[in-house]
Amino acid sequence: MAFLTKVLLASVGLLPAVHAASSTSSAANAQYTLPFDSMEGVTMIPNVENPKAVDAQAVCPGYKVSNVKHSLRGLTATLSMAGEPCNAYGTDIESLSLTVDYQAKDRLNVQIIPAHIDATNASWYLVDEDVVPRSQASNGSVNASDLTFSWSNSPSFNFEVTRKATGDVLFSTKDTVLVYENQFIEFETSLPEGYNLYGLGDRVQQFRIKENLTLTTWAADAGNVIDENLYGTHPFYLDTRYYAIDKKSGARRMVKPGEGDQIQDYAAYSHGVFLRNAHGQEVITKPDSLVWRTLGGSVDLTFYSGPSQEEVTKNYQISTIGLPAMQQYSALGYHQARWGYANWSVMADVVATFEKFEIPLEYMWADIDYMNQYRNFENDLNTFPYEEGQEFLEKLHQSGRHFVPIIDSALYIPNPQNASDSYPTFDRGVAADAFIKNPDGSLYIGAVWPGYTVFPDWNSPRASEYWVNELELWRQKVPYDGIWIDMSEVASFCVGSCGTNMLHLNPIHPPFLLPGEPGNVDYGYPEGFAVTNTTEARAIAAAERRQVAAAKEESDGSQPSSVSILHPTVTPGVRNINYPPYVISNVQTGHDLAAKAVSPNATHSDGAVEYDVHNLWGHQILKATYDGMLRMWPGKRPFLLGRSTFAGSGKWAAHWGGDNESRFASMYFTIPQALSFSLFGMPMFGPDTCGFSGNADLELCSRWMQLSAFFPFYRNHNVLASIPQEPYRWAAVIEASKKAMAIRYAILPYLYTLFHLAHTTGSTVMRALAWEFPDPTLASVDTQFLLGPFLMVVPVLEPLVDSVKGVFPGVGQGEVWYDWYTQTAVDAQPGVNTTIAAPLGHIPVFMRGGSILPMQEPALTTQAARKTPWALLAALDKNGTAYGQLYLDDGESLEPTETLNVKFKAGKTRLTATATGTWVESNPLANVTVMGVSSVPSNVTFNNQPVQSSSVQYDATAQVLFVGGLQNMTAHGAWAKPWTLRW
Ligand code: GLC
Repeated sequence: MAFLTKVLLASVGLLPAVHAASSTSSAANAQYTLPFDSMEGVTMIPNVENPKAVDAQAVCPGYKVSNVKHSLRGLTATLSMAGEPCNAYGTDIESLSLTVDYQAKDRLNVQIIPAHIDATNASWYLVDEDVVPRSQASNGSVNASDLTFSWSNSPSFNFEVTRKATGDVLFSTKDTVLVYENQFIEFETSLPEGYNLYGLGDRVQQFRIKENLTLTTWAADAGNVIDENLYGTHPFYLDTRYYAIDKKSGARRMVKPGEGDQIQDYAAYSHGVFLRNAHGQEVITKPDSLVWRTLGGSVDLTFYSGPSQEEVTKNYQISTIGLPAMQQYSALGYHQARWGYANWSVMADVVATFEKFEIPLEYMWADIDYMNQYRNFENDLNTFPYEEGQEFLEKLHQSGRHFVPIIDSALYIPNPQNASDSYPTFDRGVAADAFIKNPDGSLYIGAVWPGYTVFPDWNSPRASEYWVNELELWRQKVPYDGIWIDMSEVASFCVGSCGTNMLHLNPIHPPFLLPGEPGNVDYGYPEGFAVTNTTEARAIAAAERRQVAAAKEESDGSQPSSVSILHPTVTPGVRNINYPPYVISNVQTGHDLAAKAVSPNATHSDGAVEYDVHNLWGHQILKATYDGMLRMWPGKRPFLLGRSTFAGSGKWAAHWGGDNESRFASMYFTIPQALSFSLFGMPMFGPDTCGFSGNADLELCSRWMQLSAFFPFYRNHNVLASIPQEPYRWAAVIEASKKAMAIRYAILPYLYTLFHLAHTTGSTVMRALAWEFPDPTLASVDTQFLLGPFLMVVPVLEPLVDSVKGVFPGVGQGEVWYDWYTQTAVDAQPGVNTTIAAPLGHIPVFMRGGSILPMQEPALTTQAARKTPWALLAALDKNGTAYGQLYLDDGESLEPTETLNVKFKAGKTRLTATATGTWVESNPLANVTVMGVSSVPSNVTFNNQPVQSSSVQYDATAQVLFVGGLQNMTAHGAWAKPWTLRW
């Protein structure tokens, strides 16, 4: 920790609080874990990085199976320790219950829990089914299953899950032991050489998981650290295996790593694995196996047999975690945020500037700037007075736009020695007994933006009720339209209950320099900046050197030396939750579970300790807020964004990628992040476009505004004090943004239909190429992606280039791709990385042959776009056919009563549209464009009526047919009657 930061800590009272409290005698309410700044350089901790740490596989005896009882749906059995307890990282559980449940044809659950759960002894914690449901059984049986479970006692209990169709072993714990202790569970499965695994988030990493990584999970307030644990927990992976198919004999052979040529026929078999466990976790990806470690809980593994990714993802959501929330139509518009909009009139200026430059804007966001000293549910009356806000919001709403404020997770606790320091929100929370406690029953007091804070206890029903009431009270003053939940890991800037007995210190500044404060000016610029802006880059580099030098001068030079941490001794039956015997590689300093988060010993009203439920806090605040929003807007879909998520949070919320950087590298990582969240059932994902920390530049922001236009959630957000990065800051970015936004707004009906499909069937919105095309060469592709099945985006992800390389999947099998802009078929070869022109301001987009897109005209708001005439864009495949669909409703009802489904079908020389449903869509159809029409159309008719020849254009070179002038024939609405267009 830098000296400056320490000085600041001391000056605000937070640092003394930590140290002073550790010497108090009332240790019960101040049980700190290791001070995080003293743990730098630690090497001897018992964790994966320490080669001397006990290897549980070597010392633990495993279990033996007995008492096996078979049924049509599976089996139950007892697992008893096969030798002396090893107590490697906790107390061994001597007897376990095994249940194997063939829940459905395509789903198998294996559960191992302690045989005797003693309610009075919280030695282990099983995830509450109300918070995270278990996978549901439906008509499964051993015989009808795609999968087979088999077990063996030799040399100790191990099991395998195989796919019947291929005989492929999907999961095998053979030659390993099951370790099951009160604070440590470990099992290991073998994996095929060169495995293709995806998921296991929340993480910033490449899409296909690499070998030799330690993937830690412990919800962390940690910026966008690469490969480390981040905000959320999604213990789910997809495993895809490729087979080459012999064209003559049809024989199958598993593809070896690196094999694949985009010409042969392949089959892809995917399965999914979900570990329903909320404890701190670590997954170690060895070259031929995967080790799963948790700090408690149970083994509750569900296997989804697929065999397609689509089937796995749907099954995971439908049977287990729940389908994602349907988004409001408006949420698909463009969102503008930043930390640093200083008052209402600054915000009004932002809106006015968007209008002036005619850039679409749908949602304005307010960060913590609006708050009274960073206190939730109170505006700063000098800068964000209520009356002015109401006027601003009224105007905003009238223009068809919306407003979302941030709401933080922690709540300010006032200084009792200052009578004028009143915070009714806190008082009401205390009256409702809604906050997390210390083990002695006193309030757990951490520190976040407002200073000392308390945290709602979601395990108490009183907390949700209290929270909803606060949301409602504040909404009477600020009529907001959605909610942005932040810091929900749940973050706390100090270690332990640092505010206990310290409230009089009343720190008003977080224990670090805020961005932009002297000593913490961010001089970071995107990678290409030094070339495109040489003079400025030199000046900036000099200023940065000065800042570094000043910091050095002030530093006392004393770096904490390496500390040896003793291996905590295990007391049988007693858990050490502050210093668990096994140390997962938490990203925070010293791997301390309490660093930058509420401590593991913080206690909930039902007796649960934070150690067991930490990863669920962010999930639960989303549920409480979602429920509150339903109460505020009965029958309307809540628009809710959350930072910390758990498996199933998609039922309630959208997610943004968190604190990324204004860097090309950061922009790249948003694609694998988005694809992973597709697998996690959270399709409404988007990053801080143009980057959060650091300064953006014209080139990066231009590329990024265009890339994010094809992400489900499209928001530009920026850190305090970085240079502004709204799209109108650079003329070239205005132009680039408008170009990409024109496409986005035109295809909103397609995007909305994709969301409806995601909400009703669990299909994905943003897709990996590998999911649509069974081709091993695509298994790692994450520099290009698909939006739904029909559109492919190949973005530029590096500075200083004017072209990009991309693959055109499926061309070896006859797939046709059309360039969005020229509407002509791309001449791409299988297996060739094609160079695609992509000068600044141009994002390559391709439409897949076989698809039909319903479109409307671009506009400045989604409301305005929905009032424009329709168009269809059809791209014929090699057989001259195409299909598409459209879903419509009022765009906001939770359970709309009037809906419309339209099906489009094209075959060689005709295109038909047939609608079912009662939603009345009164905008007419303006035109139809068909790409891939190879011969001159002779006679164009619409429902057997001739179309005026002046309305028909045919480009023989591009092979594009355009039929306009259809408004009159569809005056009652584009889909009011079925129609056929012939050519
Ligand atoms: C956190 C959020 C970020 C927000 C900031 C200030 O870092 O991730 O989006 O701007 O807090 O509220």
